Amino acid sequence: MAKGRFDNPIVAAMAGFFDLFRKQNLSDRLKDTDRIDGKTCLVTGANSGLGFALAVDLAKRGGHVIMACRRAIPEAGEKVKMLSKSEMVEMKYLDLSNIETIHSFCDELKRENRSIDICILNAGVALPKARKTSSGLEELFLVNYLSNVILTSRLLSDGTIANDMFAKNGTVTKPRILFISSDSHQGSSYVDYDEFGKYIDYGVSKGMEYYSYYKLVANTYFTELSRRINQNNIFDVGIHVICPGPVNTNIVKEAPWLLRKILRGIFYIIFKSPGSAAKAVVYMAISKDYNGKTNEYLHMFNNKRMDSKVYEEKEGSKLWEETHKLWKSVDEKFVSLIMSG
Ligand SMILES: NC(=O)c1ccc[n+]([C@@H]2O[C@H](COP(=O)([O-])OP(=O)(O)OC[C@H]3O[C@@H](n4cnc5c(N)ncnc54)[C@H](OP(=O)(O)O)[C@@H]3O)[C@@H](O)[C@H]2O)c1
Repeated sequence: MAKGRFDNPIVAAMAGFFDLFRKQNLSDRLKDTDRIDGKTCLVTGANSGLGFALAVDLAKRGGHVIMACRRAIPEAGEKVKMLSKSEMVEMKYLDLSNIETIHSFCDELKRENRSIDICILNAGVALPKARKTSSGLEELFLVNYLSNVILTSRLLSDGTIANDMFAKNGTVTKPRILFISSDSHQGSSYVDYDEFGKYIDYGVSKGMEYYSYYKLVANTYFTELSRRINQNNIFDVGIHVICPGPVNTNIVKEAPWLLRKILRGIFYIIFKSPGSAAKAVVYMAISKDYNGKTNEYLHMFNNKRMDSKVYEEKEGSKLWEETHKLWKSVDEKFVSLIMSG
């Protein structure tokens, strides 16, 4: 059975608290004057928390920001425009618990001939109990893992994120994809293929474990994608993973009443604001320090290694095969990224 690092949200929150005291080695690498004029940025889950702060920061720096959200359209976008003093902000509908909306979203970007330079896979949930989606898959698994696979595969195969294999008109800028993970993935178990993608009921404790375990699964997948898209030492797309550290956001909004009150108290008193946590993500998304690099991991402003299982090539290859098999079984619009391992 899959195991995550924490089965208690309060212990997990306190572990995050101690992280805040670690020295942030790279924090002086991002300057307020660093600009991204002319770049298009996609941020999922940008109506709230970290995603919202990212949208504001990137828009302030001159980026054209596409906020992909399932609600608060257009209010959140208007607020981002106001706070960033930029009009280059738009909102598009995307519900990662509904695979069809991922295809509609990608179809629209393709029709509009859009090109994304910076793609931040930020949307995520923490659920107190299992929920079945229309695809039959469990929501935590779908939103925090499989939908990110489907979204990136579509954006890459459509050439919306330009790359050597699916380049548009031969133009290849070097885009970046960032997956917002959690350092709580460290110590989660290997992927359990007996239960992979199966609907399994859970409560708060197991939900917490699955949250960190699916972050490990996603980190493994994006490490494998990075390996496959940047073969033979030819750099194509930078694919990175980052944990923003403990952030005072709405991530616990679905927790049971008392637990939510306690966690909100801890978050409010000791966690970082979304604006402050967004800085490390913006650094990784825009800094020249990452030109020509891929598969880096940041824990806030510190270079770090992910859990060692994430880098095992055999694991990555098996996860790639099993993920695509599962996706194909639930979605007739499955697209094959033909990249040999
Ligand atoms: N907060 C932390 O301490 C912390 C620590 C490490 C990592 N993270 C990660 O940071 C990321 C952002 O979370 P947050 O802390 O900023 O929490 P948040 O305020 O709850 O934001 C999560 C965002 O994801 C969106 N989302 C959830 N389900 C979705 C779906 N089915 N389709 C589209 N969007 C969906 C939410 O939209 P709605 O508003 O519609 O629900 C919201 O915009 C997550 O990946 C989380 O795992 C957070």
